[in-house]
Amino acid sequence: MTAALGVYVHWPFCVTKCPYCDFNSHVRERVDQTAWRAALLADLAHEAALTPGHTVASLFFGGGTPSLMPPATIAAIIEAVRNHWPTTDDLEITVEANPSSVEAARFAELAAAGVNRLSLGLQALDDPALRFLGRPHSLREGLAALDAAQVHFGRVSFDLIYARPGQSPDDWRVELTRALGFGTTHLSLYQLTIEPQTRFAELHRRGDLAMPDEDTALALWQITQEATHAAGLPRYEVSNHARPGHESRHNLGYWRSEDYIGVGPGAHGRRGMCATVRQRKPEAWLDAVNAAGHGLEQEIILSPAERMGEALMMGLRLSEGIDLHRLAALLGENSVRGASMTRRSRNSWRWDMLRSMRAHYASRKPACRSSTPSCRVWCADGLFPRFTGR
Ligand SMILES: C[S@@+](CC[C@H](N)C(=O)[O-])C[C@H]1O[C@@H](n2cnc3c(N)ncnc32)[C@H](O)[C@@H]1O
Ligand code: SF4
Repeated sequence: MTAALGVYVHWPFCVTKCPYCDFNSHVRERVDQTAWRAALLADLAHEAALTPGHTVASLFFGGGTPSLMPPATIAAIIEAVRNHWPTTDDLEITVEANPSSVEAARFAELAAAGVNRLSLGLQALDDPALRFLGRPHSLREGLAALDAAQVHFGRVSFDLIYARPGQSPDDWRVELTRALGFGTTHLSLYQLTIEPQTRFAELHRRGDLAMPDEDTALALWQITQEATHAAGLPRYEVSNHARPGHESRHNLGYWRSEDYIGVGPGAHGRRGMCATVRQRKPEAWLDAVNAAGHGLEQEIILSPAERMGEALMMGLRLSEGIDLHRLAALLGENSVRGASMTRRSRNSWRWDMLRSMRAHYASRKPACRSSTPSCRVWCADGLFPRFTGR
């Protein structure tokens, strides 16, 4: 059996820059679509040559706003993926979309190109909240896009941002209940995070943006767990909820430390023990591909301890926990000293890992991107039970 591979394609352009967003997304007056299509295909071909013996299980177009890509470019990339690698029978192909009418008008073409999963950035279910979040779409437009998505794609997910300033637990319960009523099989529910270098960070620093306190954030998080569980879409990752069987296979691949390649500006990849990082700035990436045939900025060989630390950080996000036997198979028995351990050495190894995880969280806390209200929740909610190796 060949190893499963995910393919990530980054489209870095957006119509406007949202005030909370620190993703690699940029507003440009003009994009040379022909040059971008050729460069993405070249970057992809470069990675394909380095990943023989893999079968592609998922392809994810993320951004930025990949629903702004010409559907013909998306179709060409899908075709190239199928030509470069064998693919699974149920290859998952996701596009992230913003809910403007222009983008919704392209859904039929995207579906015809082979896209079978759409992830829609609704963000909020009322117009004042959308305006606060700086979104260029209205609720009406958002709901029309959701209807169109449900017509054209077998699997639809949407994103909401909660724990917004002034949002009470009752407000969120009403909004979430409405969201669950739309009948999608997947939801991404993120607590608003103030990211450095964003407009919101500046407002927050000046005291002009009052975030919910920790107790309110925790209450909102608990409502989220109760309501999604009752609706049959329990949390399977910190911020992701799905009907069982409808989880994002692509994102599960990251969290389970499977290999993935990332092409396009700023995309990251993991080829075994090699971490790949691409030029972040769109123009620098395009120049690099034109000059060298790929947009790589760095290829870093990770030590077994680094790869293992990463695998733990990612795996602890999942409700299913970390399967030490699967990690041993993926990373090699030297990296995961679990395969032939006695019960006693396994237990002491787990305690070592827990200690290093704690230290890691403590050192990373200021930049923590977790959507849970605090590290307290991570630990109390699941750190210990998540080790599933026997
Ligand atoms: C790549 S981004 C956006 C995709 C798409 N361009 C859009 O805006 O709908 C993926 C998601 O991350 C979430 N997100 C981004 N920045 C965030 C922040 N500071 N706090 C909470 N959620 C955030 C949003 O819900 C967003 O839809
Ligand atoms: S949230 Fe989405 S639309 Fe807004 S700037 Fe970020 S990537 Fe672009």
